[in-house]
Amino acid sequence: MTTRLVIANWKMNGDLALIDAMAQAYPQSSKVDVVVVPPSLYVAALLAAAKNRFQVGLQDIGQHQGGAHTGELAATMAAELGVAAVIVGHSERRSDNAEDDAVVAVKAHRALEAGLMPVICVGESIEERQAGQAEARVRAQVEAQAENLVGGRAVAIAYEPIWAIGTGASASAEEAVAMHRAIRHALEQIAPDHADGIRILYGGSVNAENAAGLFAHVEIEGVLVGGASLDTDQFAAIIRAAEAAQG
Ligand code: 13P
Repeated sequence: MTTRLVIANWKMNGDLALIDAMAQAYPQSSKVDVVVVPPSLYVAALLAAAKNRFQVGLQDIGQHQGGAHTGELAATMAAELGVAAVIVGHSERRSDNAEDDAVVAVKAHRALEAGLMPVICVGESIEERQAGQAEARVRAQVEAQAENLVGGRAVAIAYEPIWAIGTGASASAEEAVAMHRAIRHALEQIAPDHADGIRILYGGSVNAENAAGLFAHVEIEGVLVGGASLDTDQFAAIIRAAEAAQG
């Protein structure tokens, strides 16, 4: 069975006190992969606190390999520090920073060439879902990443319906499973030799209560957790739910 991947996306939240609290609270997990993604400024402190009990990621990465790009971070820098993964194409970045699929593809490529795992976010708006266009929208977003999916390197796709992010209204397990199957089908067509190795995560109002119901489905190979990852007890409970489903 695929090893489930549980990712905490702190977004623009957290502080040194939370790093301390989280480092104490996270159980060592041998059954599932855990990645904690703080704001970039806190990466070094979190890496020190993690002591290899979990991995650390970035919420975004620069499009360039380096040079005169004030304020940007290079994937190679993150790799040098020991960062394992980079979230790219989160819907908040797509909307706040006008990042389109082409920009997301460049960022995923930069992550891959530095040896980091890109966690590529896709997801439809409520208008697209109501118009019956959710699968087509998500499929197009996945297809735009084709070059990053065919190489056989570690990649994850995070399905995050925009209407479920931060709203408390998670997609139902059935809605998530249906979309994960559609994404799996697209991956099999795009990268027939490597699709099996690409984990598909769900994100959007995942919490300690609904995690087990999501993990009950083999299609949900991990979760990307926002708000609930800021609560040490909740995030530990989500990790335990993933472990229980792992068997
Ligand atoms: P919430 O879990 O707060 O809905 O956020 C989901 C998300 O955007 C994770 O990247």
